[in-house]
Amino acid sequence: MTDPRDDKITIPSLLARKASGPKIVCLTAYDYPTAKVLDEGGVDLILVGDSLGMVVLGYENTVPVTMEEMIHHTRAVSRGVRRALVVGDMPYFSFHLSPDETIRNASRFLKEGGAAAVKIEGASRKRLKLVEAIVEAEIPVMGHVGLTPQSIHHLGRFRVKGTKSDEARRIVDDAVNLEKAGAFAVVLESMPAEVAADVTRALKIPTIGIGAGPACDGQVLVFHDMMGFTTGYMPKFVRKYADLYTAMSGAVAAYSKDVREGRFPDDATSYRLKPDVAAELVRAKARNRKGRGG
Ligand code: KIV
Repeated sequence: MTDPRDDKITIPSLLARKASGPKIVCLTAYDYPTAKVLDEGGVDLILVGDSLGMVVLGYENTVPVTMEEMIHHTRAVSRGVRRALVVGDMPYFSFHLSPDETIRNASRFLKEGGAAAVKIEGASRKRLKLVEAIVEAEIPVMGHVGLTPQSIHHLGRFRVKGTKSDEARRIVDDAVNLEKAGAFAVVLESMPAEVAADVTRALKIPTIGIGAGPACDGQVLVFHDMMGFTTGYMPKFVRKYADLYTAMSGAVAAYSKDVREGRFPDDATSYRLKPDVAAELVRAKARNRKGRGG
């Protein structure tokens, strides 16, 4: 039997999965050890999402995330990955000024971050032109439609998109236009499963769903959410596969108690002198005392 981790994931191999499966497994990661766990666990796509801002850096939303922060974390992730395809998320205002600046920023994810592709939110006419320009610069692009968290100030709050027929049609059109602009995959975020199924049928490229039902060609979740590390509000679409927050709080409490009550460190976690060195030190101390007339 071949080990599924033997085959490096590429854009063509992801495109082939649309027709022949299996479904594409995607998770976010922001650091080296997490990326290593995901890669060695067989995750196909690792997204260094700008959700970084909320789950790691403590921002209220993704708007404040900078290029420098994204590149720093993408580099850490890439160092931990051997098989998966790493995608860097273009943060707010890294693609809003000019096509030249957009391409320069996108290229940094590949040249400095070690990613193989970038993700960009939205599908306005201007955005589609940027996608074309990035692809033209040999940088694979993953689109992102439905709920686009960088638009939080327009939206007012994160909500399910495509619940009305005109918005649902718009989502299908947006995804089709991203495919035409050259995207190799599209993230579908927070939409009724039926709408995501329509998009998935309409496209030749894979759809990666988050809160978009089971018909998508792949699924993504934010690592800290599915591991139960995030606290507070959690969208309906998150399934918790672990309870890291409770496990880590328990470990911190146990460590604190051991330190306060003198149980840590113990013999097993302390260095000791070899007996001959210890004896020599005792003799030296005695000589010193004698020399001082003690
Ligand atoms: O930033 C992110 O983690 C994302 C995913 C939710 C798709 O964009």
